[in-house]
Amino acid sequence: MPFTSLHALASPLSAQQIQDLQKLVSQLNPIQQAWVSGYLAAAAQSAVGGGAVAVAQSTALPAVLTILFASQTGNAKGVASKIKVAAEQQGLTVQLQDIASYKTNALAKEQYLIIVTSTYGEGEPPESAVSFHKFLYGKKASALPQLNYAVLGLGDTSYEFFCQTAVDFDKQLAKLGATRLQEPALLDVDYDSAAQAWTEAALAKFQPLLQQSAPGSSAALANSAQGSTAGAASLYSKQQPFVAELSVNQKITGRSSTKDVRHIEISLADSGLTYQPGDALGVYFNNDPAVVTAILSATGIAPTSIVDVDGNPLSIEEALLTRFELTQSYPSFVEHYAKFSQDPTLTALISDKAALREFLATRQTIDVILQHPARISAQQLADSLRKIQPRLYSIASSQAEVGDEVHLTVGVVRYDAHGSSHLGGASGFLAERLAEGEKVRVFVEHNDNFRLPAQDIPVIMIGPGTGIAPFRAFLQERDNAGATGQNWLFFGNPHFTQDFLYQVELQDYLKRGVLTKLDVAFSRDQASKIYVQDKLLAKAAEVWAWLQQGAHLYICGDGNKMARDVHQALLQIAVDQGGLSPEDAADYFESLRESKRYQKDVY
Ligand SMILES: Cc1cc2nc3c(=O)[nH]c(=O)nc-3n(C[C@H](O)[C@H](O)[C@H](O)COP(=O)(O)OP(=O)(O)OC[C@H]3O[C@@H](n4cnc5c(N)ncnc54)[C@H](O)[C@@H]3O)c2cc1C
Ligand SMILES: Cc1cc2nc3c(=O)[nH]c(=O)nc-3n(C[C@H](O)[C@H](O)[C@H](O)COP(=O)(O)O)c2cc1C
Repeated sequence: MPFTSLHALASPLSAQQIQDLQKLVSQLNPIQQAWVSGYLAAAAQSAVGGGAVAVAQSTALPAVLTILFASQTGNAKGVASKIKVAAEQQGLTVQLQDIASYKTNALAKEQYLIIVTSTYGEGEPPESAVSFHKFLYGKKASALPQLNYAVLGLGDTSYEFFCQTAVDFDKQLAKLGATRLQEPALLDVDYDSAAQAWTEAALAKFQPLLQQSAPGSSAALANSAQGSTAGAASLYSKQQPFVAELSVNQKITGRSSTKDVRHIEISLADSGLTYQPGDALGVYFNNDPAVVTAILSATGIAPTSIVDVDGNPLSIEEALLTRFELTQSYPSFVEHYAKFSQDPTLTALISDKAALREFLATRQTIDVILQHPARISAQQLADSLRKIQPRLYSIASSQAEVGDEVHLTVGVVRYDAHGSSHLGGASGFLAERLAEGEKVRVFVEHNDNFRLPAQDIPVIMIGPGTGIAPFRAFLQERDNAGATGQNWLFFGNPHFTQDFLYQVELQDYLKRGVLTKLDVAFSRDQASKIYVQDKLLAKAAEVWAWLQQGAHLYICGDGNKMARDVHQALLQIAVDQGGLSPEDAADYFESLRESKRYQKDVY
């Protein structure tokens, strides 16, 4: 019986007791409610029989392994889910939870903890873990002598601060007196088998302790009342993508624009895949055949040479087209290629990490090979390359509007360097190599950290460039729901005439009142550059008033510069309009972030 109907019972309790009971029950999760119900039943029996109330042992909670994931694009969440499955197969009780919803005051009672985290920015935690990270390094974090833990980090060796957040968590937990049961794993992009091996090793350490452990000791179950978002079931996933059809590929920037942005529509018909505004679509792609040919000719490898890829024989040509990353570049490729080719320049480079990073910043893998051609074997080439990773695109549509289609806003990566033109792997595939009607492998990556609030709450959306994508989804969703909350969009791009993405739609939303306000910054239409952050500052009083009225704030798009500049502008607004000190302004946005009123989808 739901506890809300307590009043409806012919109750022997006083009104105050009902109120107290309701308060207690509302703080419990279903597992705890079931336990309490068993406890009370046994206690009642014992009382009737005249015995003492000593029933807790018989209905005790098992010791729990808490697994927290700190993930932005789903990888850490996926690994954490696999650890959960493996732990459960060993008979352990597991609580899997998004670190964003973890109540940090429970940490002092936690006994068994695995954290799986990625890293972003310049070695910063993913958005969902910013508060936890801050807590751990702050004054409120108490000693954790009761805690046994292990940390698995996902990262990318192309970045200077490789797996920094995992390193931070691991170090700080140890510093707070917790016991490291397993050395941290710091894993590169191609992490699957290493993650599996680490999971086996880590669980071998946790399992005996958890099984001996005193029952009823879990802070995790108390913490899990809300917020466990892991594991939305679907037939198709990153591991098993849906083979979808590309229905529309339309250029939505003008002919003389410096940018090539495509509106892409993909059919999810018969897939059963669903998504919400704020989610992203994962897209697998094939490499450019011209790039494959150039690599084979620079290395003198016959296209038909057979290589072993994960135990399967494949022609090197097929492997390069479909299995290996050729457009992004990364240090491990240069390390392998230098070893196999004995190229002196590359060999010198790999011992200087900073120089290597600088070298790779402007080069795709193809550039490295073409500038340092060498006769290596097909298998050596295959062993040097890492697996192709699907790219994510913020979904630009709402299913309330488009049914089983999914729309994307894709900026094509295209530039000239080292004497030739270059295309991005996935954006080049979608824009140039895939014809309408052809197939593309996709999956939905859910993102509960970028969600619309209740329908009556105002939202401020800041999305220059392709950052507009999720806000088109938000507007479609709110339009179809007849939501009453006000919507304010800040959009920017170089030129009004060339780069006003979805101009007609946005102006229609404005006319119909779906969009309450639209502020646009066309940076190059005047002598001095104007960006979205300038537009925010120009409307500072109103922005502040909206925030005071409870508006939710969203930023999407470039994470390197734009999101930082916008954050600075917001701090300035809080100081100027709210009269806050710079420290209080920072705390104000931190509290907005914690209450999910300030969300970012940046890349
Ligand atoms: C959560 C999320 C949401 C995203 N949403 C969107 C979205 O809505 N729309 C969108 O367009 N993108 C979005 N992205 C980015 C997208 O996933 C890809 O990263 C992007 O499309 C580039 O991928 P690519 O395969 O085309 O290029 P890649 O093959 O990955 O890149 C090619 C390489 O070229 C290099 N390079 C690029 N430009 C230059 C240059 N001028 N000079 C020298 N080197 C250069 C890069 O360093 C890179 O290593 C999102 C990313 C994330 C994580
Ligand atoms: C914009 C961006 C910045 C990143 N910065 C770092 C970094 O500083 N250090 C690192 O090791 N990995 C970095 N990565 C790589 C991610 O941590 C890696 O892709 C990870 O698998 C993502 O896991 P998630 O999907 O759980 O967030 C970055 C990735 C992106 C897209």
